[in-house]
Amino acid sequence: MDIMQAVSKRISCRTFDPHDVEPGLLDQLEACIAKGNEAGGLDMRLVRPQDGGAGLKLAGAMFSGQPSTYVVAFAPADEQSRDRLGYYSEKVILLATQLGLGTCWVAGTYDKSSVTAQPKAGHELHGVIPVGYPAAKTPLKQRTVRAALRKRSKKPTELYEGYETAPAWVRAGIDAVIAGPSAINGMPVVFEDTADGIAATLPKVKSGIELIDLGIAKLHFELGAKDAGTEGSWSWGAGGVFTPRQ
Ligand SMILES: Cc1cc2nc3c(=O)[nH]c(=O)nc-3n(C[C@H](O)[C@H](O)[C@H](O)COP(=O)(O)O)c2cc1C
Repeated sequence: MDIMQAVSKRISCRTFDPHDVEPGLLDQLEACIAKGNEAGGLDMRLVRPQDGGAGLKLAGAMFSGQPSTYVVAFAPADEQSRDRLGYYSEKVILLATQLGLGTCWVAGTYDKSSVTAQPKAGHELHGVIPVGYPAAKTPLKQRTVRAALRKRSKKPTELYEGYETAPAWVRAGIDAVIAGPSAINGMPVVFEDTADGIAATLPKVKSGIELIDLGIAKLHFELGAKDAGTEGSWSWGAGGVFTPRQ
């Protein structure tokens, strides 16, 4: 599966099969986590089965089955670190999807005290990402949760006003953002033309979790644009600009 197939295929998995994930797959995730930590100044950590991965308590109202592995999202609390956490954690999520694994970014519906790892000085716990094999059948409850959340998805023109007449690479970028995850599917990131390129802004910040959504949206935009022939990179933070490579 290539990365754009992973963008289309990824969903928030809320039903996990009890089998432990093959260690070789976890090694690949761990390498991706290490790269992201280094590039982003983050401290994401993979908690494997032998390290107590099955001890993570997810809210029964949202999840079923017990994943045996999870990623702890430790990072500094500042705006740019949360943006980078979104960006690099989503790389891990898309790789997991390519490996046939289910994941879900979970910032709220879990018991924080079940995370036994402690953050380094200056870092805090932003959430967890359970990792496991998706169950063969998704129960009605979890299907209903996702359908209810996805009903709120925004239209491309709500994310980028000029969508209809935009170049194909911009439209592909926006389409990839819509396919991506965001907290309560709020899709808070808006894209705007500026003199320097396309900026990703956050018109409304309520809890601050939107900054993680921002980094996720930036990665998805970048991947969609690249797939349509335009490579580029983002500057960090709200208002960060996507600069196509010449
Ligand atoms: C930063 C962030 C936090 C999230 N927190 C939770 C959570 O606490 N509980 C949950 O069930 N889903 C959580 N989600 C998953 C979203 O609800 C989900 O991405 C959104 O509804 C879109 O659905 P999809 O990911 O299946 O496409 C979170 C997603 C993100 C990006």
